[in-house]
Amino acid sequence: MWSFPDRGSWATHSGNYRGNWTPFVPRNLILRYSKPNEWVLDQFLGSGTTLVEAKLLGRNAIGIDINEKSILISKGNLNFDYDLNNKIIVKYGDARKLCLKDESIDLICTHPPYADIIKYSVDNKDDISLLDFSLFIVEMKRVAEESYRVLKPGKICAIMMGDIRKNGNIVPLGFFVMDSFLKTGFKSKEIIIKKQHNCESSKHWKKQYYSFLLLAHEYIFVFEK
Ligand SMILES: C[S@@+](CC[C@H](N)C(=O)[O-])C[C@H]1O[C@@H](n2cnc3c(N)ncnc32)[C@H](O)[C@@H]1O
Repeated sequence: MWSFPDRGSWATHSGNYRGNWTPFVPRNLILRYSKPNEWVLDQFLGSGTTLVEAKLLGRNAIGIDINEKSILISKGNLNFDYDLNNKIIVKYGDARKLCLKDESIDLICTHPPYADIIKYSVDNKDDISLLDFSLFIVEMKRVAEESYRVLKPGKICAIMMGDIRKNGNIVPLGFFVMDSFLKTGFKSKEIIIKKQHNCESSKHWKKQYYSFLLLAHEYIFVFEK
């Protein structure tokens, strides 16, 4: 179980991009599952948290996102002096159709949307944060297949995912996504429970007189190809 009560604000990190992950998560994954100068991929780049960590840790990295806004924000966040001679590339693109060669990546370290809990655009048809969970799960199978294709054999794909609540019931999105990756051929190496601090839902939870339990964790699934 991982818990980072202080989310981390070194380098250019801030909590400004909605739904971004604490830099402690990619930092720990990169340190544990890759070596300097290896290639790290984050195909749901967001504000570039993973790439900032790759830059600081001397890894080469590619970050991809379907929203131009994310590309601009990430380029801004990566614009600081710290040169370890590693390559850091930011590209517009789709996690379901990566413009990368087969077996070219040493570590995937990524954090997709949790279905439509946070919508990252209004009408971008390729943005999977606009999809209801049943369609989202179908598209995540395509993400799993692309991840498998670009990753080198024996290497790690780490993905963070949370469950969601619909009409008072839990949708175990994390387990559905895990199942898609396993059905694609990945082996399950670790399941890390990450404690969620300062949950948005806490205030609704209190208003509802504790009629349901608070979701205060996410999963980091660590798969091996
Ligand atoms: C949870 S956010 C990632 C946040 C990131 N970990 C950070 O710390 O800033 C998910 C991202 O997935 C992007 N996204 C949605 N659909 C996508 C797709 N088909 N391909 C690539 N990126 C996509 C969204 O634009 C959003 O920036």
